[in-house]
Amino acid sequence: MTRGAARFVCQSCAAVTPKWAGRCEACGGWNSIVEEAAAAGPGAARLAAGRKLAFVGLAGAAAPPPRAATGIAEFDRVLGGGLVAGSAVLLGGDPGIGKSTLLLQAAARLGRAGRRVLYVSGEESIEQVRLRARRLNLADAPLGLAAAINLRDIAASLEAEPEAALVVIDSIQTMWMDSIESAPGSVGQVRATAFELIRLAKARGFALALVGHVTKDGAIAGPRVLEHMVDAVLYFEGDRGHQFRILRGVKNRFGATDEIGVFEMTDLGLAEVANPSALFLAERRGNVSGSAVFAGLEGSRPVLVEVQALLSANPGGAPRRSVIGWEAGRLAMLLAVLDARCGLRLGASDVYLNIAGGLRISEPAADLAVAAALVSAAADRPTDPGRVYFGEVGLSGEIRQVAQAEARLKEAQKLGFASACLPRRVARGNRPLAAPEALALHEIGHLSDLVTQAGPVRGG
Ligand code: TYD
Ligand code: MG
Repeated sequence: MTRGAARFVCQSCAAVTPKWAGRCEACGGWNSIVEEAAAAGPGAARLAAGRKLAFVGLAGAAAPPPRAATGIAEFDRVLGGGLVAGSAVLLGGDPGIGKSTLLLQAAARLGRAGRRVLYVSGEESIEQVRLRARRLNLADAPLGLAAAINLRDIAASLEAEPEAALVVIDSIQTMWMDSIESAPGSVGQVRATAFELIRLAKARGFALALVGHVTKDGAIAGPRVLEHMVDAVLYFEGDRGHQFRILRGVKNRFGATDEIGVFEMTDLGLAEVANPSALFLAERRGNVSGSAVFAGLEGSRPVLVEVQALLSANPGGAPRRSVIGWEAGRLAMLLAVLDARCGLRLGASDVYLNIAGGLRISEPAADLAVAAALVSAAADRPTDPGRVYFGEVGLSGEIRQVAQAEARLKEAQKLGFASACLPRRVARGNRPLAAPEALALHEIGHLSDLVTQAGPVRGG
């Protein structure tokens, strides 16, 4: 094979340039361009003879991959039942959100269950990790701890650990390989060190957990490269002002994505929250206008949250719209629909919308609950405190069906709600809704039904 001229390839977006540059023109990434040898001419690319593959059919005896459940149910669920031997999991999240705490707790659990667990910290000293372990009452858990960033040392140590079931690398951005010139955290280093660790995990059969910090724009540093390399990507999210944390699966080769685990950050580390709805509704007060309970879904999990709306008169200047935990664009749309289709004019009011508890909602199914909160605020009449709301609102004011109505209703009933306001079922062969009997269903077809019920609107 003849070697052709060198070419330069961005390791982030794969753009090819004829010369090296500090910044990729295609994606704007810094220090991501690396020289790669290119094959010249079509003939040069011909490969040496390889081994013949045996193609097989789709059916066959596929043994489920061996898993190690950590015993932290909220974590195991998001993983799809536990850590898969030989697989790599990336745990991403903002600095300080609790990634190290979660993995130390999971590692300690597995260690106590008799598995060999190794925790390599590139960010904190042994003393710092020990301090955390003491704080979490985990100091006696059997696990191998090391503070290291040199991948050569780490790889050599892992080769000598045939029993290892889980290896935690905290974090991948601190790992460093001396064969690559760039600094730890650069695309080249992150990619090369992760590749080597993943190769080792596959060869040795241990589960690998990589911690990855998220950059300001929400990407795991080492642009996207990491997400493609690992088998599962989990994000740990939360609001620093609130104690709860959500673990969200966004990719999983061994389980469903879109699962969530809910935790609470306490003095003793992360505690599992088996009943998130109860947590989010804990501080709700009945009999206040501008509040409605949304029966939402996070992944496959129903979660009830309180939507709060506040209106304040602003006859003069441009009215303010402030949203926390929901999309500003959707609020604007709902206000327009309420105005144009239901005659509810809020143009002279500031509108504040808040999802209580600090949860972020992205479902359109929240439309109806938001509308109920807005209408309740405008009429200054509380919604029925025993009622939940869900349904998508269309531009003509129609209430549209949303997924998994039954799961939402079941959760509402479980938490003691007496009724639900939801989209009217259309005739077109919809199968009957298997709703809990104790729950009164209040089906509406148009947003104006909601407005009429709320009574006369203040200021109108
Ligand atoms: P940490 O796991 O270090 O975050 P990350 O690895 O994602 O950067 O968590 C740090 C925060 O968690 C820190 O601000 C203190 C808080 N914390 C608690 O509230 N309780 C605890 O028991 C622990 C260990 C940490
Ligand atoms: Mg950390």
